[in-house]
Order: sequence, then structure tokens, then C-alpha cells
Amino acid sequence: MYKCKNRGVIVGPGDDAGVFRYKDTLMVETVDIITPIVDDPYTFGAICAANSVSDIFAMGGTPLTALAILGFATCDFSAAVIKKLLKGAIDKLHEAGACLIGGHSIEDNELKFGFAVSGVVDRKSLLKAGGAKTGNILILTKRLGTGILTSAIKTGKVKKTFLKEAVDSMLTLNNIPSKAAVSAGAKAATDVTGFGLLGHALNMARNSGTDFVIHNEKVPLMRKVKDLAAAGAAPKGAKKNLEFCSSNTGFSGNICEGDKLALSDPQTSGGLLIALPQKELKKFDRIMKKDKMPYWEIGEVVKGSGQIIVK
Ligand code: CO
Ligand code: CO
Repeated sequence: MYKCKNRGVIVGPGDDAGVFRYKDTLMVETVDIITPIVDDPYTFGAICAANSVSDIFAMGGTPLTALAILGFATCDFSAAVIKKLLKGAIDKLHEAGACLIGGHSIEDNELKFGFAVSGVVDRKSLLKAGGAKTGNILILTKRLGTGILTSAIKTGKVKKTFLKEAVDSMLTLNNIPSKAAVSAGAKAATDVTGFGLLGHALNMARNSGTDFVIHNEKVPLMRKVKDLAAAGAAPKGAKKNLEFCSSNTGFSGNICEGDKLALSDPQTSGGLLIALPQKELKKFDRIMKKDKMPYWEIGEVVKGSGQIIVK
């Protein structure tokens, strides 16, 4: 991985966001851009914003400003649609505490939308991919399945009504789980996005010099996802992710192919995977419950060398 020699670089490429020290401030910066996953422009804009600010929360930071990046075919989209897209995004950014302060658009055959987001983080609040410690428990804060569900709906394998759970989940900010993790003394977290739970867990385990044990039956899935995955309806991305992780992942004999694909399903605006000191679980629970935020304890960090063990 590329390493910049500038001493201001606190976290470089390979984590959810970069962190740069300027005088006494730690700036945290990220960019994310996605293609449409829902038809409604307002909802898609809001999901884009939630997805883009998520990397700041995954670092334990506070998002402050956002720049929009929009690619669209000017003849296919009316100004009214673009307005709705931006409105959805701006509303979600405000909910996250960030302001839109600019952006750039470009002609593109396929709609693409996302944000470069900047924020700040306290050094003691920093949640790094490499901060997991042996004995930590692994917490996941959203169900898996946005990739499998959205692609199954596109191909008509499942009724549109099943999309609602995925949409609600993608619209949910990771701000509360981030705050809860920091307050409970966690030092490691990531958000589960394009590489699926296994891919992102593997990145954390490797960077932490530990192994992660994941209990398959404790991993929460959205409705229909288990059946769809078992029926082979997982998107290409899930298969690619599984292939990528397989040489560093050990599966117990009882884990079927469908479950492996669900664990590898690429997520949009997925939840946080947090390595939490076990004795701080009560504190974490209190903050999450206060805001009615769900979470699942899915495994633990054990001594090792960057492998995933799925039981
Ligand atoms: Co991320
Ligand atoms: Co990202």
C-alpha cells in the first residue's frame, strides 16, 4: 500500500477515510460515488449522502462539509429530477450535520452520484481498521442483503415490497453506532460496503494482525436474502468478493454456498463492523438502546495473522 512521507498523514490509503493533521486539527476525508439502486430520485439522493458520510463515521469522526459529484446524461434527466436528487442528498447531509458547499457535474451515459466529505476527528476517538485487539467482540449494526435484494428486484426474482427493508436500512445514518463505539472505548471499526462483510472483516483482521471469528447464525440478514442467496440469486459482486476472500477465510463444513454469498454481499450504505472491548458492551448497549438502534454481536477477535474463521 502507498505510504506518503508527509508527517501530517495520520491515516493513509487502505482505511475508510484518510486522516490528515493540520496544526491541532485532525481532518478526516473520504469520497464515494454510486450508480442508481432505487427508482425514486429523492430517495436515491438521500442514500448517496448516507453512504458517503458513512466513512467519516466509520473513523469515529464528525462530517462537516460535502462536495457533490454528479455524472448524468443531460438529455435523459430533467432539471426537476436532478433537483429532487439534490434535495434528498441535502436533507440527509443536514441530518448528518454536514453542509453541501459545492460540487461538480459531468456528462455521463450512466447516472452516478456521490460526495467527497470532509470532517474532523479527535485522536482518542479514531476508529482505525487496524485497531482490533484480541478478546474484542465483533458488533454489526445493520442487517446484510442490500446487494442481493436490489439485484433480485431488478431481475424480478422477488416482489418490490421486499425492497423497503433495504431502503430503510440504507437511509439510516451510522452516526449513533459511531458515537456509541467511541464512547465505549472501541479503537477499530469499518463500514460494511462494496466488499461485503467478509471483505471488510478481512481488511480489519489483516490490519490488526489478528483473526476474526464470525458466527454465521448470528449474522443478521434482511428478509428473503437467505432464500435468494441459496437459490443462486446473488449479484456478481458477491461472487467476486467471496472468491477474493476465500484464500484467507476458513468455513466450517455446515456453512452452505448461499450463506457464504450472503456474507460476501456488497452493501450500499451498510452498517458498522466494530471491534469492541467486551467489558464495555453495557455502555455501548445503553447508547444504542436510547436511540432505538439495533445491533448484533456476531463474533470475536482472536490471536492470529489476518484470517477469517466462519463457524
Ligand atoms: Co468504508
Ligand atoms: Co468508501
